[in-house]
Amino acid sequence: MIPLHAFVEVAAYAASAALLTGAVGVALLYALRGRSIAILLTVVSAATVLATVTGIIAITMRMLITDHDRSVTLTVTAIAGLVGLGASLLLGHRLIAASRSLLDAVRRAGDSGRFVPPEKTLPAELNELATELSTAYERLEAAHARERALETSRRELVAWVSHDLRTPLAGLRAMAEALEDEVVTDAETVHRYHSQIRAEADRLAAMVDDLFELSRIHAGALRLSRQRVGLGELVSEAVAGTEPLARAKGVRLSGLAQGVLPVEVDAAELGRALRNLVVNAIRHTPQDGGVEIIAGVEHGMACVTVSDACGGIPDEDLPRLFDVAFRGETARTPGGGAGLGLAIARGIVEAHAGEIGVSNAGEGCRFVVRLPLGA
Ligand SMILES: Nc1ncnc2c1ncn2[C@@H]1O[C@H](COP(=O)(O)OP(=O)(O)O)[C@@H](O)[C@H]1O
Ligand SMILES: [Mg+2]
Repeated sequence: MIPLHAFVEVAAYAASAALLTGAVGVALLYALRGRSIAILLTVVSAATVLATVTGIIAITMRMLITDHDRSVTLTVTAIAGLVGLGASLLLGHRLIAASRSLLDAVRRAGDSGRFVPPEKTLPAELNELATELSTAYERLEAAHARERALETSRRELVAWVSHDLRTPLAGLRAMAEALEDEVVTDAETVHRYHSQIRAEADRLAAMVDDLFELSRIHAGALRLSRQRVGLGELVSEAVAGTEPLARAKGVRLSGLAQGVLPVEVDAAELGRALRNLVVNAIRHTPQDGGVEIIAGVEHGMACVTVSDACGGIPDEDLPRLFDVAFRGETARTPGGGAGLGLAIARGIVEAHAGEIGVSNAGEGCRFVVRLPLGA
């Protein structure tokens, strides 16, 4: 049994020795902070051994232990220290290998754009880093894909503008020149030219308006001023607005809302989307055919379906219907639409966190718009 005062003395010497070498070790670690983990681990294990040795030497000098005891203790400490150093080096080596493999994976990702985490088992922290990198690269890839899609549709739009906007302009110019040079003089033709110029100008104005709307949708600049409205009201408005067109074509138009359907939407924008669907349905339905608009609730979503009697859409066209400037075979006639209506409808519906889809059903096709129900 060592007496208490000797025990306190030993503890005091050991603590001072440890604090001294500890302080030197910390200073060294600070100076080497940018160096390899292996070097830092070596410093830590060397400092530990040194603290022990200094303590032992101090208590030997104070003659608290004999020379024999000291030799035994120093030998044991030296062996333990060597093993510790070996373990530190091994650990350092593993950490370096793990971080190198992670680094290689990141470099490969830089070339290929895809991050494949290293196959070897990584320490928990590095593994977490690898997982985070995986998600970050996935997000980056998704953002790139979105950007590419946007760029493609922008390019299509420019191609569209240069073609579809120029063609009617050339016609307008020809008619205006004929009138100006008095190539046509008979009253009937002059009158026809005038009204044709008016009609073409109206159509061009509508196209420019559609184009503007679409570019706002693409730029994400669609400002929705949402209000609580009943979906039934929007359906009634779409029916009222397209009634004259239906009557002129001899198409039966009917609208129906099942129950109160509160939605929080921009009434003007959503009205425009619905009108595009209804106008298409009327245009593609033959005389005496029927177009039906029904609003209701389905799977907890507010839902509007527009069904027509167009005779069905070719299956290969269905997935491309909502693309910018897509027009079906029958619609590619001069004076027809520009193929922007459905792209606009989809943009507006998606800006409302809704979905739009189309399928063939019955005598024609059916467009479905789903929107989140208001509280
Ligand atoms: N109700 C419908 N019935 C049949 N085909 C349709 C209908 N709505 C759209 N389509 C097809 O989808 C194409 C794209 O429609 P849209 O974007 O409105 O352009 P546009 O009406 O200017 O041709 C149309 O050209 C037509 O081929
Ligand atoms: Mg259309």
